[in-house]
Amino acid sequence: MHEPIPESVVIKPIIAALVASVGLLAAPSFAQAQKAAAAPQNPQLARAQEIVNGRCSLCHGAEGESASPIFPRLAGQHPEYIAKQLADFKSGRRKGTMNDQVQELTEEEMKALGVFFGDKKPKAYTVSDQDLAAVGRYIYHKGNTYSGVAACASCHGATGDGTDQLPRLAGQHAAYIEGQLKDFNKRERTNDNAVMHAIASKLTELEMRAVSVYLSGKL
Ligand code: HEC
Ligand code: HEC
Repeated sequence: MHEPIPESVVIKPIIAALVASVGLLAAPSFAQAQKAAAAPQNPQLARAQEIVNGRCSLCHGAEGESASPIFPRLAGQHPEYIAKQLADFKSGRRKGTMNDQVQELTEEEMKALGVFFGDKKPKAYTVSDQDLAAVGRYIYHKGNTYSGVAACASCHGATGDGTDQLPRLAGQHAAYIEGQLKDFNKRERTNDNAVMHAIASKLTELEMRAVSVYLSGKL
């Protein structure tokens, strides 16, 4: 004689399966939320955040998107390049406003600050003078064979992204780029200026301006 199958034996697993599948769907976002709230922040990055809030953000912005054109944007810059510049400011190899900002920074903090700003997503900017940007585009990608200016892209990359040793130029403030080119030309930018001095000394003022404007609109 057949025992009637008790209702609960059939229904319960179905409910359990439903709950499990709903749970699975909800799982990733829930896990992410948990992780964001609970994960202990990397102590080095926490220290960098503290330094940025206390000092750097004043000029470079909390996200590395300096609002004023005289302060370089740091968002998306290569961590190694940032750390190297900080070390050069500290040792006095590179001179400027930054010398006073870095004196107490340790090597580890400089590295962490590089990672902090390097991890920030750079924003896209538009250029108003498209004609000037077109001249800059030509110089950037082809150089000037008449005056012997090498194409910037051959080192800084077609996208302006740079490398670990070469700064990212894309999206940088035009006024800052132009200022650095002039400083390289006059050798007032004192660190590793040999290559850039040779290049900047061959650029006309119009070319400097044009290439700076072009770069400021690149992402
Ligand atoms: C008072 C404003 C000010 C503060 C505060 C400041 N900076 Fe700067 N920073 C500048 C200026 C101006 C420059 C451009 C170079 C120059 O003229 O000295 C610069 C340049 C830099 C550069 C070189 C960027 C490049 O593209 O070569 C880095 C990296 C940098 N700052 C990081 C920092 C960090 C990290 C802090 C916090 C510890 C900081 N800065 C605080 C003004 C400031
Ligand atoms: C042969 C390789 C080479 C070429 C070509 C080159 N650069 Fe550079 N550039 C460098 C190096 C290396 C540095 C980094 C110097 C340092 O470490 O301090 C640099 C730095 C710079 C900086 C400073 C960026 C900052 O964040 O402070 C600017 C601006 C710049 N280059 C613009 C240009 C432009 C514009 C051209 C084309 C007209 C150009 N470069 C062509 C190698 C090159």
